[in-house]
Amino acid sequence: MEHNLDGTATQAAAVHTVATVVEQSQMATDTFRMRLRCPEIARRIVPGQFFMIREPNVSDPLLGRPFALFDVYEQEDGEPAGVDIGYLVLGKMTRRMAGWQAGREVEVWGPLGNGFPVSNVRHLMMVAGGIGQTPFLAVAREALGLRQYGRPPRACSRRPEQITLCYGVRTAAFLAGVEEFERLGVEVRLATDDGSRGHHGFVTELLEQTIDRGDLPDVIYCCGPEPMMKAASDIARRHNLPCWLSLETPMACGIGACFSCVVKVRVGEGEWDYRRACVDGPIFRADQIML
Ligand SMILES: Cc1cc2nc3c(=O)[nH]c(=O)nc-3n(C[C@H](O)[C@H](O)[C@H](O)COP(=O)(O)OP(=O)(O)OC[C@H]3O[C@@H](n4cnc5c(N)ncnc54)[C@H](O)[C@@H]3O)c2cc1C
Ligand code: FES
Repeated sequence: MEHNLDGTATQAAAVHTVATVVEQSQMATDTFRMRLRCPEIARRIVPGQFFMIREPNVSDPLLGRPFALFDVYEQEDGEPAGVDIGYLVLGKMTRRMAGWQAGREVEVWGPLGNGFPVSNVRHLMMVAGGIGQTPFLAVAREALGLRQYGRPPRACSRRPEQITLCYGVRTAAFLAGVEEFERLGVEVRLATDDGSRGHHGFVTELLEQTIDRGDLPDVIYCCGPEPMMKAASDIARRHNLPCWLSLETPMACGIGACFSCVVKVRVGEGEWDYRRACVDGPIFRADQIML
């Protein structure tokens, strides 16, 4: 297992394979869950890693698109059979994906990127904005000891006493997967921009409220739009809390070849350099990334 710049681990080698769509269901407005049968990737992938999906024999869109692991599903004997993704319809590819029926074959390569570190803390705080909740279901399952991911399987040495998900969207109709988190025993705190559910305002205000009421997390994992991640890392810095960000930088190859995904990272006192989010990330320590 290799370690990148940030001390997080790069897991098993990626494979390029053909996956079959098993089923799709709608989770929220413009938001779908798709199950793909791809045992080779399911066996290797860990929470926070992603894979690229491409429609074969189609030139527009030509490039694959990155999607985070939402969860691994298992076949009857308990062996990993495939992956679930949760996706928001945004442009060309995701619009096409929403029309894919069971049985369709698609190109998939992964697992890619480094993944979140295993949490091993008392209170794990996850902060998600928009479709940024998708990596956190598997993070929570792993932390609670409900499932092991990766090859060799990663193990948690300490179960959290508390896992909180602060989750914000524009309006309640976009909330996707809340019940699944609640079923795991995750404390879910919601925010909407228009006040249609939960806190009326930014999800980072919820994070601040949680900290202000004395409920200090040991670590913060964060995924969502850049301004939200910047606000979350500012809060983490003020309270001296470790914080990891999962970047959603657009990617063309996912394997480190095209440099379309470079981000600026601090590499020393007053110094910075570029890193490729697809191979050195997408998870970075908040104090290293320059947002
Ligand atoms: C590591 C990683 C994991 C991801 N996981 C998920 C996931 O689990 N679920 C999910 O729904 N999405 C996820 N995304 C984002 C997803 O890859 C994009 O939404 C998708 O590529 C859009 O493709 P499209 O062809 O539908 O849109 P396009 O036609 O390519 O783009 C439509 C519009 O959206 C903008 N856009 C495209 N990609 C992004 C982006 N990453 N961030 C902001 N704006 C963008 C474009 O500039 C354009 O304006 C992830 C991205 C990364 C890098
Ligand atoms: S997406 Fe090609 S180098 Fe990162």
